[in-house]
Amino acid sequence: MGPERHLYSSVPASLRMKLPSWAHAPHISPEHKLLVCHETSQTDASRGSLGWGFQTACWQYSLRNMLFHLFTLSFTPTSVPTITIAPGVKMPLAGVGTWQYNATVAERVVAEALGLGYRHVDTALNYHNQDGVGRAIAAAIDGSRLTRRDLFLVSKIPGGLNHSAASAALETSLAQLFPKATGAYVDLMLVHFPATWAGAGGKAARQEEWSALEAFVKEGKARAIGVSHYCRRHLDDILEIATIRPAVNQVQYHVGMGAAGPLADDDMAYMRSKGVTFEGFSPLCGPCGGANATELISGALVSRIGRKHGKSGAQVALRWQVQQGIPVIPKSKDLAHLRENIDLFSWALDADDMAALSAATKPAVSGATSPGGEPVSGDCSVA
Ligand SMILES: NC(=O)c1ccc[n+]([C@@H]2O[C@H](COP(=O)([O-])OP(=O)(O)OC[C@H]3O[C@@H](n4cnc5c(N)ncnc54)[C@H](OP(=O)(O)O)[C@@H]3O)[C@@H](O)[C@H]2O)c1
Repeated sequence: MGPERHLYSSVPASLRMKLPSWAHAPHISPEHKLLVCHETSQTDASRGSLGWGFQTACWQYSLRNMLFHLFTLSFTPTSVPTITIAPGVKMPLAGVGTWQYNATVAERVVAEALGLGYRHVDTALNYHNQDGVGRAIAAAIDGSRLTRRDLFLVSKIPGGLNHSAASAALETSLAQLFPKATGAYVDLMLVHFPATWAGAGGKAARQEEWSALEAFVKEGKARAIGVSHYCRRHLDDILEIATIRPAVNQVQYHVGMGAAGPLADDDMAYMRSKGVTFEGFSPLCGPCGGANATELISGALVSRIGRKHGKSGAQVALRWQVQQGIPVIPKSKDLAHLRENIDLFSWALDADDMAALSAATKPAVSGATSPGGEPVSGDCSVA
């Protein structure tokens, strides 16, 4: 038996009866399908013995792959630049967010985003959608469209957990994202909040939880670790004991906050001085409510600047951040918006645009107000 016959024999008999559907069989690996197609097209003998049904299946399968790549190429804007967040770990400056999406929506959005050229995906144990995110990733990998190494996957576990609860949350998170894969890992795992959502925890709890994240890295299950909603005081607690430094602090940041000061932006300058990458969430002020929620989409300032560059208001707001080296993770359920939100790197804002956007005070900073009336993020009030 030649190699092609051997490969053909390994296709289940039930599928051999209806060969075109074999091309879509999820349990046969894409590598195997391509190998079988390749081997069987080598000799007339095998082609004759395998018949037209088989050739049609191969043709369909190859066409599907080719169309996917053509689609990806035609709609993938200039490749997304990366920022180094830890030794050997590069984070794409633009990614897709998934907060408030259920697993079904998250699966669709992430699949569409990957097709458009996104490689950075942001989720969290608390979003209750990691199984959907994982399915979209598995489909892209199983379909040979991407390898795991092409992707940058970020997750988060809740804050305020002791070592064993944190370890359990980390394992659960990984199992939800990669239920079948051996050697699974995330590229970045964050502690979602400096304490529990109710504010319980404090310094000792932060330090204990961090030790669980470090163990996770040492087991090869995360390439980098970081924090979210941390202000200077919280970060100092971690730096005091860290053997692996926090790579990222993910906090709310958007146009309107550029002039707001360290209590509102969770001390961006301090984070950066400690080598912690400052990452902005809610870059379009999506959850800000009322007029604040549309200010960065259709507000006067971003619209005026957008017209000058032939870009949308949302693109202007996002470009303002990435032009400062701040990674952004806008979310969208709309394919056209997803396409816009990654088209940020083939054009630039000029110095006047940057200055006007940095001076903007709308949308207002969400969070709290200090006793002196200053806007603050509210994160520093967490014990
Ligand atoms: N660490 C944390 O605690 C934390 C907190 C909040 C968020 N995050 C992360 O940050 C991600 C993004 O933040 P977010 O979800 O709060 O909201 P966002 O990205 O600031 O805004 C999303 C809103 O903007 C709209 N939108 C997106 N692109 C658009 C475009 N090009 N044109 C017009 N409208 C557009 C979306 O509507 P359409 O669907 O109609 O496009 C949606 O209503 C989250 O999904 C999550 O991954 C993290």
